[in-house]
Amino acid sequence: MEKRGTMQQGEAFITTRSEAETEYIGTLLGKYLQRPLVVALYGELGSGKTVLVRGAAAGLGAADRVSSPSFVLMKIYQGRLPIYHFDFYRLEDPAELDELGLEEYLPGEGIAFVEWAGRFPGELPPERLDIRIENYGEQGSNSRRLWFEPHGDRAAAVVEDLIENITWRIDGTLNMIPLN
Ligand SMILES: Nc1ncnc2c1ncn2[C@@H]1O[C@H](COP(=O)(O)OP(=O)(O)O)[C@@H](O)[C@H]1O
Ligand SMILES: [Mg+2]
Repeated sequence: MEKRGTMQQGEAFITTRSEAETEYIGTLLGKYLQRPLVVALYGELGSGKTVLVRGAAAGLGAADRVSSPSFVLMKIYQGRLPIYHFDFYRLEDPAELDELGLEEYLPGEGIAFVEWAGRFPGELPPERLDIRIENYGEQGSNSRRLWFEPHGDRAAAVVEDLIENITWRIDGTLNMIPLN
């Protein structure tokens, strides 16, 4: 991952200590996604991108459990808004995206999650929410740091809502209040 400079206004980070915590952050995020938006996800294999999207889809009211779209490039789920789940990991040629009609989905009428967004950054609109996931702590640890980098007012409002509504227990674990 590229080295980061200082944080910009509107940026935030959250540290999670388990898959369940990352999924919960995703669910909370999904709850605050009310209007079409592109959510670009960055981070190495196994960092938790799909886990986060799984939570977000649940927070958006999708009944189906999200699984990785890396072999099919895109999967669609129906929540309060349509959910377009992309994975650019196996994508060789962005022309494949044109065949798919990418511009209709970024963000189109729904929420577009893009794993491995950094492989084809030119395909993404400038207005979006970037989320970078880093392994955090010792090698093999279950801690992750989620960096939220909003670009544009819509993404900034979502990050603000998310951050305002996270609470922690006294032992430092995430307070996972049941949602909905
Ligand atoms: N804090 C954490 N957040 C998310 N996943 C975690 C965490 N700790 C361990 N894991 C594990 O890391 C893996 C993340 O997988 P996945 O979401 O498919 O990654 P990616 O989509 O980034 O390749 C899962 O096996 C999950 O159990
Ligand atoms: Mg994945």
